[in-house]
Amino acid sequence: MMGAMERRRLGSTGLDVPVVGMGTWATFDVRGREAEWGARRVVDTALEGGAGFFDSSPMYGEAERVLGASLDGRRDRALIATKVWARSSAEGRHQIDRALAYFGGRVDLYQVHNLVSWAEHLDTLEEMRDRERVAAIGATHYSPSAFDELAEVMRGGRITAIQVPYNPRERQVEREILPLAEELGLGVVVMRPFAEGGLLSRPPDDRDLAPLRDLGIRTWPQALLKWILSDPRCHVAIPATSSPEHMVENAAAGDPPWLEAEERALVAGLATSR
Ligand SMILES: NC(=O)c1ccc[n+]([C@@H]2O[C@H](COP(=O)([O-])OP(=O)(O)OC[C@H]3O[C@@H](n4cnc5c(N)ncnc54)[C@H](OP(=O)(O)O)[C@@H]3O)[C@@H](O)[C@H]2O)c1
Repeated sequence: MMGAMERRRLGSTGLDVPVVGMGTWATFDVRGREAEWGARRVVDTALEGGAGFFDSSPMYGEAERVLGASLDGRRDRALIATKVWARSSAEGRHQIDRALAYFGGRVDLYQVHNLVSWAEHLDTLEEMRDRERVAAIGATHYSPSAFDELAEVMRGGRITAIQVPYNPRERQVEREILPLAEELGLGVVVMRPFAEGGLLSRPPDDRDLAPLRDLGIRTWPQALLKWILSDPRCHVAIPATSSPEHMVENAAAGDPPWLEAEERALVAGLATSR
């Protein structure tokens, strides 16, 4: 029997988040009735599966607008993590005002995307937090070449969450970022759990996954999500999907039991050998 989605405290943000949420890069950058209806069906499925944590960004084209419209009338059932991605403070303010309008006047986690002009945007976001438009503030980066700067921002005490890539092929955060997040009590959102889909192109067969079946793992995407979430320093993984069926499958990986070291090594071996 499928259990209920586990929820974790997103570090010192104070937010209580489902361990599986959803990203919107590429998948929600759509226009037109039919495509937007498709996105809404994915949101329906996420909410039904308890995976109501949604990540977006103005960098993702139409995604913030489409996500906001998909939550019309049910914004309260979702946690929204979006981003500011702008060189100037003025453009950042414009993005933030637009996103607040899409998301019913509040954003749960507002992140500085790729650390672009982070000091300026943190000033604005702190002001928004004081006005109770934003609950928590974070920062994201996808590239290990920026992790020194990310660590500096983490130590600066102005953010309470980070968003970084973590999967069996991208483990650079294990060196400094995850230990530091734990030490500082920061929330950790995991982007790119499937390496932008790259880890799914040649999935292992059922025989390879058989040792994981007793842990409730039926599919390769579920094995990858459980691999991430078995590290308690990771609080929520945000796979992107355009498919309601895939959303159901991903949400079903959000309950215990989690993997022990030996099972994690098995998944990492399968991921890196293909
Ligand atoms: N801040 C940053 O710098 C940054 C950078 C990258 C990403 N992100 C965030 O992280 C999110 C996730 O990363 P991502 O979108 O790059 O890649 P990802 O989640 O690692 O992979 C997405 C791909 O996996 C496929 N997929 C998802 N679930 C599946 C399933 N159960 N079975 C088969 N295929 C499945 C999707 O295709 P289908 O549509 O066919 O399901 C999609 O092509 C983004 O959407 C974004 O919100 C942030």
